[in-house]
Amino acid sequence: YDYDLLVVGSANADLVIGVQRRPGAGETVLGTDLAVHPGGKGANQAVAAARLGARTALLARVGDDDHGRLLLDSQRAAGVDTSGVLAGGAPTGVALITVDPSGDNSIVVSPGANGRLTPEDVRAARDLVRSARVVSTQLEIPLETVAEVARNLGPGSRLVLNPSPPQPLPPEVLAACDPLIVNEHEARVILGDREAGERPEDWARALLATGPRSVVVTLGAEGALVASAAGEARVPSVRVRAVDTTGAGDAFAAALGWRLGTGASLTEAAAYAARVGAAAVTRPGAQVSYPTAAEVDAL
Ligand code: RIB
Ligand code: NA
Repeated sequence: YDYDLLVVGSANADLVIGVQRRPGAGETVLGTDLAVHPGGKGANQAVAAARLGARTALLARVGDDDHGRLLLDSQRAAGVDTSGVLAGGAPTGVALITVDPSGDNSIVVSPGANGRLTPEDVRAARDLVRSARVVSTQLEIPLETVAEVARNLGPGSRLVLNPSPPQPLPPEVLAACDPLIVNEHEARVILGDREAGERPEDWARALLATGPRSVVVTLGAEGALVASAAGEARVPSVRVRAVDTTGAGDAFAAALGWRLGTGASLTEAAAYAARVGAAAVTRPGAQVSYPTAAEVDAL
């Protein structure tokens, strides 16, 4: 394999304002100065993995504009191969983000060029897709594009999917996931009308029954639950002071996928990923907050 991890996903310019509290409907509040950071769930995952030392490539679409150049610069600075980043067709995606004093965020995304990453783009990049041991994706690009990724995987490669923002998934996509990584909200959307139960163990079992080879349920401060045919295990979280949780889930997914590709068990990979996610919440921003492997070891 040429790459430990290929990320197929979104790239957004994150326009971030700190607020004391979020405005309600019809209300205006004043916030901090605006910060513009490179973001997007796909681009975030690629930078997170590369900073940890993974040989990483990104398949994405940005606009031919300043935001697109901000995203490309961030990828290249982290050492990500950007030969699969397409430009043009629409403006670069934008995320409007507010962050409150507890470090929690609210995000509205305008997909822009991300919405123009097509199944055809995936077929044209088939060699790139097949040259990665692990392929990781999310749902800020069209679902049919994610489905095309699942159809084009190399024989020994594995697909990691974080279905965020969530929508119901077709059986062929569910069956390709190893693992499917979800939080509670995402689990409930994907389970839809199926009986979900109350406990994370219940959701994990119900999700496994829909087809994935493995499932990881992230539980915030409670850590994570991993599940496969081999059974279930809880993985503890790492306690840190949260400054900005934006993109911590992306760092978790990327670290998990990369570690699995190096032969780690699901439990080992999730424990490492939890430390990477914890390091990321201690600093503002998404990509700009991601740790190196040495920083993770020091945590
Ligand atoms: O997961 C965090 C990311 O979600 C942000 O970087 C923003 O761009 C949105 O895609
Ligand atoms: Na952060």
